[in-house]
Amino acid sequence: MKSNKKKYRICELVELQLATSYGWEKTIDGCLVQCLLIYHEHEVVSYLNRCPHTGVNLDWIPHQFLDSQSEFIQCAMHGALFTIGNGVCIHGPCVGDRLQTIENEIIDNTIYLIL
Ligand code: FES
Repeated sequence: MKSNKKKYRICELVELQLATSYGWEKTIDGCLVQCLLIYHEHEVVSYLNRCPHTGVNLDWIPHQFLDSQSEFIQCAMHGALFTIGNGVCIHGPCVGDRLQTIENEIIDNTIYLIL
């Protein structure tokens, strides 16, 4: 069965490596899609930029998704902390919930999201 998913170019891998975290948004088929990408342990992880607690964006400063120690993804609204590698909330009002993973692919050092 053919997938309707498309690849969207985000940035060069080195740009994410330097920034560590990056927010991206695009209107697709009339819907605003907001995602975040993090360079973590030599891999790119990507999630929807939506807190499972209330559905708001996680960042209050653009592209800043990590806590002060860069150990967890942090929601700016109520401080929930999510494990970077799997998006599971380990502290805050939505413990046990998880961020929605978005598939990504790196081709020739360019990062793409697959949506
Ligand atoms: S909205 Fe994210 S922790 Fe409440």
